Amino acid sequence: MKVVGIAAISINGMIAQRPSQRSLDWASKDDLKVFKRVTKNAGVVIVGRKTYETIGKPLAERLMIVMTKEPSKYEGITGAIEFTDQSPQLILEDLKGRGFEEVAVIGGGEIYSLFLKEGLLTDLYVTVEPILFGNGKNLATDFDRIDTKLESVEKIGDQSVLLYYSLS
Ligand SMILES: NC(=O)c1ccc[n+]([C@@H]2O[C@H](COP(=O)([O-])OP(=O)(O)OC[C@H]3O[C@@H](n4cnc5c(N)ncnc54)[C@H](OP(=O)(O)O)[C@@H]3O)[C@@H](O)[C@H]2O)c1
Repeated sequence: MKVVGIAAISINGMIAQRPSQRSLDWASKDDLKVFKRVTKNAGVVIVGRKTYETIGKPLAERLMIVMTKEPSKYEGITGAIEFTDQSPQLILEDLKGRGFEEVAVIGGGEIYSLFLKEGLLTDLYVTVEPILFGNGKNLATDFDRIDTKLESVEKIGDQSVLLYYSLS
């Protein structure tokens, strides 16, 4: 199964300046187009509860799997959205069993870190935006090192660069 990470980062590797900040507040429209293409192609996204709160609703045409330690808190919420405290491995097994061949891991930092640490990401899209944050949330932390292979570099719009890496 393809497990594709996708993120927009500042020049200095941050995915957000403040915990509740939405990426739409600073990332480009060109990045949003890439996000829509990659996530719609997968048909399903995995997201951390904090990032889900910044989005605030399910994403059209994509199943949303929200990782939280307290799924029971979200029992009333309906639509193409599921809340789970399962491990990343079990979530992926379950999605495979349901016929998905690809899944997009859309963050935030805790979730990228978890999937990277467990060696589960197969691909990674990173859009570098023309901005520096002097503080904030790193793309991923809490592991030693992970080597990747740069597959492509594409200028998107006037100001942004899309990097595509394969892992493993
Ligand atoms: N620039 C980008 O591309 C991009 C992409 C995504 C997000 N972001 C930004 O990143 C920020 C949020 O990132 P974040 O790292 O603070 O939070 P996050 O990764 O979105 O969510 C963290 C939450 O996920 C749940 N979680 C983490 N590990 C888990 C596990 N093993 N099992 C079950 N649940 C688990 C916990 O939810 P509970 O507390 O409910 O248990 C935890 O509080 C926001 O500002 C967002 O806008 C930026």
